[in-house]
Amino acid sequence: MKRHNAAELPVPVSNGGERDDKTGSKVDKMGGAARRWRCGGCCSRLWFVLVVSATVTMLVLHGYDSGLGHGAAAVVRIEPVRRGSYHTRKVNPVDRGGGGGRPSFCGSSPSPPDSGSAKPVTVDHKSATSDSSTGTESDGGGEPSSASSSRPAAEDKSDRCGGRYMYVQELPLRFNTDMVKNCAALFPWTDMCKFTANGGFGPQMSGGGGVFQETGWYNSDKYTVDIIFHDRMRRYECLTGDPSLAAAVYVPFFAGLEVWRHLWGFNVTTRDAMALEVVDIITSRPEWRAMGGRDHFFTAGLITWDFRRLADGDGHWGSKLFSLPAIKNMTALVVEASPWHLNDAAIPFPTAFHPASDEAVFVWQDKIRRLERPWLFSFAGAARPGSAKSIRSELIAQCRASSVCSLMECADGPSNKCGSPARYMRLFQSSIFCLQPQGDSYTRKSAFDAMLAGCIPVFFHPGTAYVQYTWHLPKNHADYSVYISEDDVRGNASIEERLRRITPAAVERMRETVISLVPTVVYAQPSSKLDTMKDAFDVTVDAIIDKVTRLRRDIVDGRGEEEKLEMYSWKYPLLRQGQKVEDPHEWDSLASILLYSLLAWPKAAMLTSQ
Ligand SMILES: *[C@@H]1O[C@H](CO)[C@@H](O)[C@H](O)[C@H]1NC(C)=O
Ligand SMILES: *[C@@H]1O[C@H](CO)[C@@H](O)[C@H](O)[C@H]1NC(C)=O
Ligand SMILES: *[C@@H]1O[C@H](CO)[C@@H](O)[C@H](O)[C@H]1NC(C)=O
Repeated sequence: MKRHNAAELPVPVSNGGERDDKTGSKVDKMGGAARRWRCGGCCSRLWFVLVVSATVTMLVLHGYDSGLGHGAAAVVRIEPVRRGSYHTRKVNPVDRGGGGGRPSFCGSSPSPPDSGSAKPVTVDHKSATSDSSTGTESDGGGEPSSASSSRPAAEDKSDRCGGRYMYVQELPLRFNTDMVKNCAALFPWTDMCKFTANGGFGPQMSGGGGVFQETGWYNSDKYTVDIIFHDRMRRYECLTGDPSLAAAVYVPFFAGLEVWRHLWGFNVTTRDAMALEVVDIITSRPEWRAMGGRDHFFTAGLITWDFRRLADGDGHWGSKLFSLPAIKNMTALVVEASPWHLNDAAIPFPTAFHPASDEAVFVWQDKIRRLERPWLFSFAGAARPGSAKSIRSELIAQCRASSVCSLMECADGPSNKCGSPARYMRLFQSSIFCLQPQGDSYTRKSAFDAMLAGCIPVFFHPGTAYVQYTWHLPKNHADYSVYISEDDVRGNASIEERLRRITPAAVERMRETVISLVPTVVYAQPSSKLDTMKDAFDVTVDAIIDKVTRLRRDIVDGRGEEEKLEMYSWKYPLLRQGQKVEDPHEWDSLASILLYSLLAWPKAAMLTSQ
């Protein structure tokens, strides 16, 4: 395989226009381009280059306050295991009257979930699992919890689904399931059909030598959220064929798989073709006009930088999907979002666990709660030689030197020790803390694997989880994780010493929180979704509905969401009551250093394929 020519890479510039030593090297290795996709498990993501934008200066001015974030007054906790709470969150059914000339919701007659206009998604009526009798409280700011009085035909159904209806946009199959059918063409080097099988869960694994349970475990690839989400949506209990009833509109475009098959060796015309097509289709539909697409969402199960090409030219990485005006109005669900754009949101990477019942989750939680954890901490991953900004070599050196750290060094090729989920899950299950430095991008699937194993994640950069998965993880990061800054690691802070300082009681508390997050970070079986708890899909759908409902209210109130500044998009979900976005925040300095970390691959990287 041919290596790239590093000289073709854009040089990251600091505020003054000079090279920024912090953001590292302009010489990030392009060899990783292919590696990222070939090896499974925990090895490489794309190496990418940080380009610091001019807007940096604005953030720098806000300084650094290390005290914030720990004592958050308005901690939003996700409490996944709460019996009977599944449908208690009600969003008031939508008044679209002021939202752009659509007929108002109340005037239209409700239709029951209807598969007719929702292809390729079909409705499964079996999922009447919720306890609607508890659904009396309202999250909708004191408004009535449902509009059942004005919708006599829907009765119980309207109560259960009030404000939760989803409309599924109709798209030709080539935008979604055909890509799965043609899975052999998804990736130039490996047949991905193994991983797209079983609704995107991949091949089933059993037992794993006692590491897993007998059922519900799969060797899931980290980029199959498109398929997983779609399968769940097909069986969503509140689908409607009437878009005027819907709280949000799901566009079944597998944007992740689409870009995936065109990332290497294709010109920008090819990479953007389907993106432009899908925009043409959806913007010409009447549903679009209600909110200019702000109630529309879709999955793009890769990282955001795969869809934010810096400029036109075959040498630049990715598609320009997320920069298209229509898509800017929508919400794209990715596994790594941009902290500086408002139109994407991060949802968890798929892990190996896809439970079929609440019972399976309880049994798993019990198991990981009782495990002996002989190692204080562990690290599974590979170093990033050649990346000046990576702290992985420091972590590996510290782990090697410590008698309480277990190291699983990953390598490419057949000797890849991290390739098997049973191996790294065994490691995480025998460790109290699991180190989660940045990968080739900010995030790592491994962070979710660790939490699934009941191992408390140790993060070194807020971009790895804290500013990403704000829908799924607690706002107060100290509740479930340890933060040691990359700068501290570079300054020879001892990880072991830091972790030893944490009291057993605090460890216990954090681990309990991590264990309680298990349902929240896994994708359950679509055929028998969880009953009393919300999985990653449920939490995502709730968050989308909340977001669109707020937007709609803003439009009705004449408050445009335009007042939100993209550069602060990472910050909005972390704000406490009364806090303003301009107020200093713990992560300001880091955000400024890393602002606009955009991928820009040179042509050579794309020619390495064959
Ligand atoms: C892009 O590639 C396709 C085939 O992959 C080719 O048909 C087309 O002419 C190319 N377009 C440009 C502008 O190079
Ligand atoms: C995006 O939304 C704004 C208003 O919210 C609207 O004016 C604009 O036309 C929308 N863009 C597209 C492409 O529909
Ligand atoms: C960290 O330790 C290494 C080797 O022990 C040393 O070379 C380096 O100067 C130290 N760095 C700092 C900031 O103390």
